[in-house]
Amino acid sequence: MTKPGSQSASLFANSEVTGAVECLGLTFPSEDARRAHFLEQLREKLKEPEFRRTEGFPKGSDEDILRLSDPPYFTLCPNPFMEDFIRCYGKAYDPAVPYARKPFAVDVSEGKTDPIYTAHSYHTKVPHKAIMRAILHYTEPGDVMLDGFAGSGMTGVAAQLCGAPDPDYKKVVDEEWRAAGEAPPKWGARRAVLGDLSPAATFIEANYNTPFDLAAFQKAAQRILDELKSEIGWMYETSHDDGAKKGFINYTVWSEVFSCPHCGSEVVFLQEALDPRTDRVREQFPCPHCSAELTKDNLKRRMETMIDPATRAPWERVRFIPVLINYTFGAKKHEKKPDLQDLALLSRIADLPLPGTVPLNHFPIAEMYHGSRLAPKGFTRIHHMYLPRAASAMGRLWEKAQAVKDSRTRNMILFFTEQAVWGLSLLNRYGPLHFSQVNRYLNGVYYVASQHSECSPWYILDGKLKRLGGSFKRHFAGSETVAVTTGSAALLPIPNESIDYIFTDPPFGENIFYADLNFLVESWHKVFTDSKPEAIVDQAKDKDLHAYQRLMQVCLKKFYDLLKPGRWMTMVFHNSSNSVWAAIQEALTGAGFVVADVRTLDKQQGSYRQVTSTAVKQDLVISAYKPNGGLEKRFELEKGTDEGVWDFVRTHLRQLPAFVTKDGNVEVIAERQPYLLFDRMVAFHVQRSVTVPVAVGEFFAGLSQRFPERDGMYFLPEQVAEYDQKRMTASEVRQLEIFVRNEKSAIQWLRQQLQDKPQTFQEIHSQFMREIAGWEKHESPMELRDLLEQNFLLYDGQGEVPSQIHRYLSTNFHDLRKLPKDAPVLRAKAKDRYFVPDPAKEADVQKGREKALLREFAEYRELKQKKLKVFRLEAIRAGFRWAWQQNNYSAILDVAEKIPEDVLQEDAMLLMWYTNSLMRAGRQA
Ligand SMILES: C[S@@+](CC[C@H](N)C(=O)[O-])C[C@H]1O[C@@H](n2cnc3c(N)ncnc32)[C@H](O)[C@@H]1O
Repeated sequence: MTKPGSQSASLFANSEVTGAVECLGLTFPSEDARRAHFLEQLREKLKEPEFRRTEGFPKGSDEDILRLSDPPYFTLCPNPFMEDFIRCYGKAYDPAVPYARKPFAVDVSEGKTDPIYTAHSYHTKVPHKAIMRAILHYTEPGDVMLDGFAGSGMTGVAAQLCGAPDPDYKKVVDEEWRAAGEAPPKWGARRAVLGDLSPAATFIEANYNTPFDLAAFQKAAQRILDELKSEIGWMYETSHDDGAKKGFINYTVWSEVFSCPHCGSEVVFLQEALDPRTDRVREQFPCPHCSAELTKDNLKRRMETMIDPATRAPWERVRFIPVLINYTFGAKKHEKKPDLQDLALLSRIADLPLPGTVPLNHFPIAEMYHGSRLAPKGFTRIHHMYLPRAASAMGRLWEKAQAVKDSRTRNMILFFTEQAVWGLSLLNRYGPLHFSQVNRYLNGVYYVASQHSECSPWYILDGKLKRLGGSFKRHFAGSETVAVTTGSAALLPIPNESIDYIFTDPPFGENIFYADLNFLVESWHKVFTDSKPEAIVDQAKDKDLHAYQRLMQVCLKKFYDLLKPGRWMTMVFHNSSNSVWAAIQEALTGAGFVVADVRTLDKQQGSYRQVTSTAVKQDLVISAYKPNGGLEKRFELEKGTDEGVWDFVRTHLRQLPAFVTKDGNVEVIAERQPYLLFDRMVAFHVQRSVTVPVAVGEFFAGLSQRFPERDGMYFLPEQVAEYDQKRMTASEVRQLEIFVRNEKSAIQWLRQQLQDKPQTFQEIHSQFMREIAGWEKHESPMELRDLLEQNFLLYDGQGEVPSQIHRYLSTNFHDLRKLPKDAPVLRAKAKDRYFVPDPAKEADVQKGREKALLREFAEYRELKQKKLKVFRLEAIRAGFRWAWQQNNYSAILDVAEKIPEDVLQEDAMLLMWYTNSLMRAGRQA
């Protein structure tokens, strides 16, 4: 081993033939020597009880962890070399280095058919091509980025591919940048630090992101498939036509056998339910014995007692029988019903012992969300998931993969082989209408359907092997570029302020149970996720929404600490419900981030639109930044003062784009509107436990005194010039889409209507009535008149016409041009019109409204009623804000008890006050 400066390893080099390699500042004669050196260090580290006690440490023996690790770049446990990786390849934070970017949304639906993306599946994946655009926007070549919920490691792939882009893709992106009037993106690889709680995930991440010898891999994989065929090919033979010719089975279809609820006879589901003319499963079909109408729901499950191949003890499982064989003879595919020979062959295979590599461990049924789908059908252990022939095939494949000598090639072979773990199991459903039966399992659940395709290993893997050759022919993975750690994101072993950008796609509530789902593959690897710190909502593991929020917040707090000040995080979020969305917002701001943009893909337009209200079941792209050290330090001195408020607003406005166009129109930027600026400012204070020194009215008035306003948005003086200049080139201003569901959105909607066009009650009434169809059931109904009176001003025809109305009339009516403000004809036309108050008056309007809202809040508090069914959510918001200022946490907690749980959980601001009050009152959130 020599010191730095020697020759470095070439990409994708075969470790046996390359020369010296450099790693973490040390030089080794070969990759094997590098690996041996760090494996030894890891072996020693694993002996430390403290290290092993780290929360999120995978469950597995030292030997199994070492066998799969490739240190220092990848460890199947928390990576003790991560700090050195950052020290060697990162750049220390230097506040003097200027950095400024605006938020940027990516299209997460792009690139889902790319061969690299499809090289290995995972329960949810973000395509690397989408991530690359964000990386190019936020970072420079050589920067270090992080994804702490990295799943299959697409963030690492994207970081590396910025240095080896597909030429067509590069051309498109260059053109986009040019069209937007920007300098071309800086292509060049970025480094990435990836982590995940699940060993199954980090194993995929590492294999995607570490160089390997493609030719050696292909040769070994082909050899294994060939050897397997010569050993167990006989298990997949079936007679063709006259019986003398042998066809080779692609897949065998098995059907579950039920009992008829009327006559008790056996019903072979597929035989009866499948309509041969349409190849569809019928909703209703007659019993072949008693002709009674049957449906899937009224059939009775039939259990069969078998001998467990592992324990040799009796074992009860739902009954399956083979009903169809699809095989190849010559160059053609054929189908047949299994004959006696086929059945004899299957029972011969069933008598064979299981290969030693087939896992026999139990599923943690009681702690699994989908345990109740497995156990009642008899599937409680891993080997139960495989029919005897599939178990033989998968077991032998695994044995051969593990026997590959070169460790890097071996891991790639396992990466290839593990892709048959689900596909060979009973989870693979038969789809008569599907061209291919490969990987037809239901995503995200353990579901054994009533019809199963038992595929041959070659049917699954031959094509995969060919495709992998194509996937990896672009040699993008470099040495010393990506480091992978296995463990909780809350404990990422990385120094603070060392990360230039974060792209992440966290778990989202209770949709996908990663630890449970990864259990099957991890059983083959013999290293398991420690699911305790897994950030999910899962009753089976006693994790509710609060637990999820808490778990997310500690992880996000870690991300916040690791990120350099002033830098950005893009978070992709598959929003499953409003309460999960509110929880994640609370976790984000609670961790210290400031959200600057939230967008969702408009599937019809193929472009992103801003999310202004609650956003159920949409993919969201959230751009958030860590305020730069300057603001945080100044805020320490200014906190609780007006200056702190305006310093925050100034800094926040600086982070927002000045001008956004969409289809030639100017788009209103939600974040620049007074309401959202107010909410962001309040959240910034509350999360730092600082009293908000201004009321809403004062804030609005202060905004207009300090910052120029255009089209209902506020700007910094230097930004407004850009806005004005570009505004002239666009045709019109596109307003945000507002759905009127409650008082808050009704006011926003009215403001939008009245901003440029003061109107009378009659003019606006019919439109308003059309908008309120979706009014929420818990929200007190509001009269239009009250909304107008409480939030806007009315010109009664006396005195001068207010300038807002004057402006509108004189621009839109020829005969009213150039008239003085007190001209009788103008006054007559202006009479009874409502208008948006100017900022100075806005303070008074808001003051009056706030008073009324607080009165209502006080009434709610006094009410003896345990639960409020209908109420003004705005009163609760105002009340919480007021109570927080008074340190009156019990007022918040009392009223929170009275409103429906889902209302509290779905409103990010209410949730913020509530969670913080719980903590302040000494009751854990
Ligand atoms: C939505 S997936 C990420 C998928 C990824 N974007 C991809 O392209 O494959 C979320 C991941 O978070 C992981 N996870 C859940 N809780 C975690 C925690 N506390 N620390 C680290 N990872 C966690 C899960 O194992 C899962 O792989």
